[in-house]
Amino acid sequence: MMRTASRFFVAAAVAVLPATAMAQAWSDQPVDPAQYEEQTAVAYEEDGRYYNADDVVTFNVAEDGTVDWLTFSGFRRYHSECHVCHGPDGEGSTYAPKIKNSAVHMGYYDFFDVVVNGRQNGNSVMPHFGENKNVMCYLDDIYVYLEARGMDAIARGRPAKKEAKSDAEREREDACMG
Ligand code: HEC
Repeated sequence: MMRTASRFFVAAAVAVLPATAMAQAWSDQPVDPAQYEEQTAVAYEEDGRYYNADDVVTFNVAEDGTVDWLTFSGFRRYHSECHVCHGPDGEGSTYAPKIKNSAVHMGYYDFFDVVVNGRQNGNSVMPHFGENKNVMCYLDDIYVYLEARGMDAIARGRPAKKEAKSDAEREREDACMG
């Protein structure tokens, strides 16, 4: 009996522990902004969106604190779709991880993958949003906003000053929302 029980326990621990460690890892790790300068630095702007050198969207905060449109929009979308679980301002809750850190550590593609497909780790469930237009049409916005929060480029709360929404952004939104 003992042998069976302990063998079961070991098997269960092996199966469960790495997943738990993985789920907690990104969000619990503090962000060192210097380490992510390349990922977040603006290389160019196009139609009101800012991109890094790898053509991945990123945030832009002007010297007077004006944020780019995506960051502002992401603030709003995050607080309508994600904050019930992940807490205000991406700070995390007892229920779900601090995804302002995760966004920076994971980077754009891994972040997207989790939101589109969801993830489950025992009772801890991240829903999949792949078919939810209110999330998918604004996932760039949400990512950029969380990245700005994780890099400490913007404070908690609603950004006070924002760039205007570009015509291109309006068209993209209409096309996506159908
Ligand atoms: C119903 C609650 C809930 C909602 C709503 C929710 N999440 Fe999650 N999310 C979770 C939980 C719980 C986890 C941890 C899953 C695990 O343990 O693997 C998680 C994990 C994540 C992760 C992985 C974090 C990491 O460090 O590995 C990302 C990224 C994420 N969520 C993004 C989002 C975004 C973006 C939204 C809004 C569009 C959102 N979530 C909405 C519950 C939620």
